[in-house]
Amino acid sequence: MQDYIDKPVFRIIADAATELNLPAYVVGGYVRDMIMKRACVDIDIVVVGSGIEFALEFAKRTGRENKVNIFKNFGTAMVKYKGEENWQIEFVGARKESYRKDSRKPLVEDGTLEDDQNRRDFTINAMAISLQKSDYGRLLDPFGGMNDIKARIIRTPLDPDITFSDDPLRMMRAIRFATQLNFKIEEETFTAIQRNVGRIKIVSMERIVEELNKLILAPKPSIGFKMLEMTGLLKLIFPQMQDLKGTEFINGKGHKDNFYHTLKVLDNLAEKTDSLWLRWAAILHDIAKPATKKFEPDTGWTFHGHEFIGSKMVPKIFSKLKLPLNEKMRYVQKLVLLHLRPIALAESHVTDSAIRRLLFEAGEEIDDLMMLCEADITSKNPEKVKRFLNNFKLVRQKLIDIEEKDRLRNWQPPISGEVIMDTFGIKPGRVVGEIKTAIREAILEGEIHNNYEEAYAYMLKQGAIHGLNPNKGISNSHPD
Ligand code: CTP
Repeated sequence: MQDYIDKPVFRIIADAATELNLPAYVVGGYVRDMIMKRACVDIDIVVVGSGIEFALEFAKRTGRENKVNIFKNFGTAMVKYKGEENWQIEFVGARKESYRKDSRKPLVEDGTLEDDQNRRDFTINAMAISLQKSDYGRLLDPFGGMNDIKARIIRTPLDPDITFSDDPLRMMRAIRFATQLNFKIEEETFTAIQRNVGRIKIVSMERIVEELNKLILAPKPSIGFKMLEMTGLLKLIFPQMQDLKGTEFINGKGHKDNFYHTLKVLDNLAEKTDSLWLRWAAILHDIAKPATKKFEPDTGWTFHGHEFIGSKMVPKIFSKLKLPLNEKMRYVQKLVLLHLRPIALAESHVTDSAIRRLLFEAGEEIDDLMMLCEADITSKNPEKVKRFLNNFKLVRQKLIDIEEKDRLRNWQPPISGEVIMDTFGIKPGRVVGEIKTAIREAILEGEIHNNYEEAYAYMLKQGAIHGLNPNKGISNSHPD
């Protein structure tokens, strides 16, 4: 253990402990991450005594007297310290906690290190390393956290019914850690989650989603979603995703299970990107399949319009999950809405105008959309996959060629409404809009290039159709 705390920052803490005569220990995530050789800059220090007094002493020794964040209500204090790393150190007095049935907020009393370890969520998070001069570096591991790391197991230190009932957020945390670390949840612990899922209702959605997002950002998020589903948590926190599960057969014809399909898309995408919102787009791309599902005797199962209905469902889901209702949400909506477009292109003859339209509608999101669509190819038929991926290559190349030529990615109309009004001496109104649309369509169809000169000439032609002459307004012969 010596190695893990053989850093100046821990020597300073140890000196403060000697000075104050207060035992201090490194606990929780830092110990776990060091053993697992994961990077960690958050240090939790448990002090048998006042965490705040200890933080002030540490701050004095590091010249950060004015930089201590004290949370009196929780008896904790936080100091940022730039040493060999940008450390964030939290000092807390050892606590004993008892919980009430109806709230996550415990009654807190001072306690021993042992009390403090008892109240922690998992064995792998309940280890401590002593910073006392007498046994500096000794590991205090009362629940076999080290063995559980070796065996890759998530297990509660106490009876799991107590640990989860005390703080039901820990059910989400168990699944999140299992996903991030690729650990198994020990059987007793897992069945206790199944028994206690109903208690999740006392946890705020903000905290649940914080864990959910960490799970989504794991290397293979499907692990976590499968566990959320198996425990019954998914149905409670995100029922629309639960609804994707299952297959139905009519006349011997079935459709794929959209839950597992969605997870495959998500895993595929997770290999390519760390973007949380692109991963959310994968989670939601087929979310309206249950709502649009129909069996048509000739064609079999159809999900017509699921991309459109799905994009309409996004705000409600974001709002329920307390995800941001801002440009992140609109980005996800856009990708859900457009997710069938590249595949439709790849399936058919790729025309320039179809590519232009896709570029125009996807704008900045075109690369992310292409990534989502490639991840969406989950067919088990290797021939089919090969064909799609080849066609995608073609679509990508065409996108590059056309973008180079026509610059449609962030398309701004080359002719503004003002130019149209000034040229023809007309007021704002329907005709201005119609001319603008006609110019855009001509560009997308490839009739004219995306530049001012050609668009201007085209505008004059369109004006003539409406009976307009440059600078003369509406001509008498052809009133609009
Ligand atoms: N903890 C707990 N129950 C919770 C939250 C936290 O027992 N609901 C304890 C665990 O011992 C945990 C420590 O508090 O290790 C610190 O919690 P936190 O900072 O949330 O998590 P980490 O374990 O550090 O992991 P991560 O940084 O990945 O969230």
